[in-house]
Amino acid sequence: MIKIINDFFHLETQNTAYIFSKSLSGLLLHHYYGKKITICDYQSVMQKLDGGQGTSNLYEGINNAFIDVMDLEISAFGKGDYREAMISLSNENRGYTNNFKYIGYEMVSEKQEDLPMSYGADQTLRIDLFDSSLRIRLELYYKVFERSDVICKYAKVINESQETYIIHRLMSSQLDLKNTHPIMMTFDGAWSTERHLNEKLLTSGITINDSKHGVSSNKHNPLFILRQQQTTEDSGEAYGFNLVYSGNHAGILEVTPNERIRILQGINPATFEWKLKPNDVFCAPEALLTYTHNGLNQLSHQMHDFVNNHIVRGLWKNKKRPVLINNWEATYFNFNEKKLLELAKKASQVGIELFVLDDGWFGKRNNDKTSLGDWFVNSQKLPHGLGYLCDQINQMKMMFGLWVEPEMINEESELYRLHPEYAIRLPDQKPSLGRNQMVLDLTNPNARDNLVQQLSAIFSSCNIEYVKWDFNRNLTDLFGSTLSNQKEFLHRYMMGLYDVLSRLTSRFPHILFESCASGGNRFDLGMLCFMPQIWTSDDTDYNERLAIQTGTSYGYPLSTMGAHVSDIPNHQTLRNTSLSSRFNLASFGVLGYELDLTSLSNDELEQVKSQISFYKEQRKLYQYGRFYRSHPTIFTSNRTTFYCVDSIQNQAIVGFFQSLIHPNQSEDVLFVKGLHDQTLYQLKTKTQKVNIEIFGGLINLILPIRIKLNGKIHRLICKLYQMKGEQDDCLVYGEQLRYGGIRLTQQFMGTGFNDRVRVLGDFGSRLYIIKPFVKKEYKLKKQSK
Ligand code: DGJ
Repeated sequence: MIKIINDFFHLETQNTAYIFSKSLSGLLLHHYYGKKITICDYQSVMQKLDGGQGTSNLYEGINNAFIDVMDLEISAFGKGDYREAMISLSNENRGYTNNFKYIGYEMVSEKQEDLPMSYGADQTLRIDLFDSSLRIRLELYYKVFERSDVICKYAKVINESQETYIIHRLMSSQLDLKNTHPIMMTFDGAWSTERHLNEKLLTSGITINDSKHGVSSNKHNPLFILRQQQTTEDSGEAYGFNLVYSGNHAGILEVTPNERIRILQGINPATFEWKLKPNDVFCAPEALLTYTHNGLNQLSHQMHDFVNNHIVRGLWKNKKRPVLINNWEATYFNFNEKKLLELAKKASQVGIELFVLDDGWFGKRNNDKTSLGDWFVNSQKLPHGLGYLCDQINQMKMMFGLWVEPEMINEESELYRLHPEYAIRLPDQKPSLGRNQMVLDLTNPNARDNLVQQLSAIFSSCNIEYVKWDFNRNLTDLFGSTLSNQKEFLHRYMMGLYDVLSRLTSRFPHILFESCASGGNRFDLGMLCFMPQIWTSDDTDYNERLAIQTGTSYGYPLSTMGAHVSDIPNHQTLRNTSLSSRFNLASFGVLGYELDLTSLSNDELEQVKSQISFYKEQRKLYQYGRFYRSHPTIFTSNRTTFYCVDSIQNQAIVGFFQSLIHPNQSEDVLFVKGLHDQTLYQLKTKTQKVNIEIFGGLINLILPIRIKLNGKIHRLICKLYQMKGEQDDCLVYGEQLRYGGIRLTQQFMGTGFNDRVRVLGDFGSRLYIIKPFVKKEYKLKKQSK
């Protein structure tokens, strides 16, 4: 709800409030963002500066307007506020001092600007400001999403003068607060190690969380969080920030010596400039702000709800996502129709619903040096065409999906021969290459039209129901042959991409698009406006994924995270982990398989089949349930749990995940929040077999006969026989799960083994199912034991 009381704008969501006001001077003053509270006297939230402020300048000489220390809703450079500015415009005639003053407000209906944006706000407020010497109008938009406790903000400038200006920066949001939440959480990494959580204490100075890659990047995700020192997953205050944008972003945080913090979010000013001609309008992307006093899980829930309900759109919104098989790690470029159909056959036998044909199906693409840009079928590999393959796959009762990397061009391609001007490169310079390829110049409308035309032809050539949209290098050699101001290049590239995506997604609304950028190099809210899911990382190693999925989960729901079970040794780390652990972790995401199913043993195929059928039963809970991380997470411990609770708090599924085991480590106690305190539940281990190979020579302690380690008999036993793992099975009230916990069966400690010992070892894991207790079923089971 948005209340306007005298000069105060009081924005409320279900649990938060955001308050600012206009002042007589025309400055917009910020007063409060945090827990929803009742304000009796608005004077009490006003900053008091009657005692003077050292050598601070007085804004326009107005009494007490010590602009450098005031909490402001928007600030520019040149009038005495020396902190990082939200906006900066200049031209030769007017200089570069900006002075925007409040002129009015209006409650407006939500607009879809020329950028991907959230939708479904409860109310939208527009605040108008004007710089009368520049004759530039500034509009600030506030969108209130009451149920997800999110406020989105963005800014727009309109040139009402007869002169041209340069915009040096237009940030989407400025927030001035007291620095009481000084721990900054960022989600950083590189290829294969995306979105690892890092925390730092913010003290005096400027901290920037940004990207200069041309995309939101795997180095620093646009998501960041500020929390109190004592905040945990389940308690304490935190603010969450994100940006609906896929290009270079920046979160600029300045802590001043008087313990205030300014938080700016928006397009990275370091790589941006824009020419604003008379009558031109420039709109900044939308910034997301959210707050909770109930811990980081709650903060994530707010962002998850927001993404599922106000970012993801189209036919796949809130729809169960299919279990897929992807042929990339099964075949790489080395496949033909026969191999694909063999793989598809096995996939359909184990219950897979979508077959994805990855890189290598087009042009002369037999390696990564050629053919990007030539989006027509490689008839040597697929002599009967895509249509035939697709029909065969549909006949196996699976959907057919296709990989593309549309934004790229290889020098060795038909497209480059015909249109070298479509590639991004500087005249007379050798371009830097990434994976042997250049990027298509999407600032050029002809290149965009060509792309839409080629892709439309291929997407309508047969029953394609899924598209994986890849992007495998960052931008360099920034130059657009059709541009007049080259510093606009990176933002115009992004606008070009969004144009292509909106044309294709509206022409093919039934296609489920999955965004990918060498895995997670473009995991952001901008892409999620077009593509409901994203390939989280190329790294499918259990241990590494545990960190990647944990980090990603802070801002993005499981329905958006592609998670595949792949082969061992893992292709990124060469690590061996069990099939059950690989599945248990991948099940906390949109499940897929990415390995050669035709080379699995019958026993392994049976395991895969039962994993898929289990996942399908629990799919809604996994993809759309309330997801929780337990404390501590894998970033500070060798063990952690994830769990999902359904919307009526009736059941839960828990994953217990271990990285390296420590000898004689502390006992494992399982806590699950979010269920009904007074309901009686039954908690059970999902039955899991234990490979006796794990015991090595210790096998002789449990066998009646003595066998030779690694000898024929040992190898045969290991191959043919798997032990039934331990079973935790108990009745428990919701309140015990929340406060008391369940003390799980002891892990193997090197001092004894029986069927009440949990054998996990390195990279071991378990799933637990929690359902309301049904007396009859329980009794029968206990009797039959
Ligand atoms: C990078 C992606 O992340 C992989 O999954 C795969 O599609 C390759 N590209 C194909 O080139």
